[in-house]
Amino acid sequence: YSLQTSNTLGFSAFAEYFLAVRSEAELVAAIDYAQQNDLAVRVLGGGSNVLMAPQIDGLVIRIDIMGKKVLHEGVANRALATEVVDIVVGGGENWHETVEWSVAQSLSGMETMALIPGRVGAAPVQNIGAYGQEMKDIVFKVRAYQLETGRFVELFNDDCGFAYRDSVFKQSPGQFIITEVVLRLSCHQDESIRYAALQSYFRDQGISQPDIKQIFNAVCAVRRSKLPDPELLGNAGSFFKNPVITQTQFDQLKLQWPGLVAYPENKGFMKLAAGWLIDQCDWKGKRVGHVGVYEKQALVLVHFGGGDRTELLALASDIQASVLATFSVELEMEPQLFPFV
Ligand code: EPU
Repeated sequence: YSLQTSNTLGFSAFAEYFLAVRSEAELVAAIDYAQQNDLAVRVLGGGSNVLMAPQIDGLVIRIDIMGKKVLHEGVANRALATEVVDIVVGGGENWHETVEWSVAQSLSGMETMALIPGRVGAAPVQNIGAYGQEMKDIVFKVRAYQLETGRFVELFNDDCGFAYRDSVFKQSPGQFIITEVVLRLSCHQDESIRYAALQSYFRDQGISQPDIKQIFNAVCAVRRSKLPDPELLGNAGSFFKNPVITQTQFDQLKLQWPGLVAYPENKGFMKLAAGWLIDQCDWKGKRVGHVGVYEKQALVLVHFGGGDRTELLALASDIQASVLATFSVELEMEPQLFPFV
């Protein structure tokens, strides 16, 4: 079964067995079948954050569990002095369409995460985030099948081990299969537009107090201007995490590189813009064989077709080596190998 259109990098990949499941009952039946037949189980979401091997043994399961609805229990949370609304979404729903749906109902909390490729069930895994909003800020609970125990479990926000592009789901690959997510959104919008790229967009448009819909549209415009559409050019979004370094390291680097771009992290730490570091090493727009560095955003690696992950990993490691040699900073890859080794 070809998975070439099931991974946004567009690598050629064949699964020994493949099944799309539309309910939790179908998922359990598929896992039982795999276990009885000694097949490894590999779960795939939207394939937007994976580096696929050319041949994948075992059974690849795609979660096609759908459904989006508003849960009324969450409304008017006085303790938080704000009105909240909980929504429950099937893991197979498209992320961007879910964002659009929440925006149409004037719910705030995910509007700046527009146009992130992938599915809802994969969003908690790497704690997706963009322009100041992060999955960890809206997850109320996550429902998942736990392979080890053969049971469904519900993890509340605190149980998910969320950190920057990280979670308990990412830390224990293959252990949890997310089927449903409950998100807690707000009826009032987040006032602060902290990101320079959004601020300058609104300035240009003459909008002084953007509403949720305008913020959503702005994010779509900004993303379209600098991130490649996976339908047109294979990519997995940011290929590296933005590295976090100590304030002391940062102060030293800044002396040497006054243009260094960084954001304050937890006290005593700074998060560097990896795209800037890679750009300074002159990688932007470079092509090596069938892969390369995107011309408008150096943090995004692209696949022009006909290549494979070995080629991409070689490019990634050359980039890591030059950033290390120039800045003494290590870049960590963001996408995960599929299957997880
Ligand atoms: N920059 C350059 N050259 C480049 C790219 C970036 O100099 O080629 C500098 C610019 O100064 C720019 C700054 O780096 O202002 C930051 O770039 P950008 O605003 O594009 O954000 P980022 O830090 O590269 C992160 C996330 C993105 C997310 C944006 C917006 C990570 C790894 N990436 O990128 O997430 O959309 O912020 O919030 O945290 C993803 O994870 O796949 C992803 C796209």
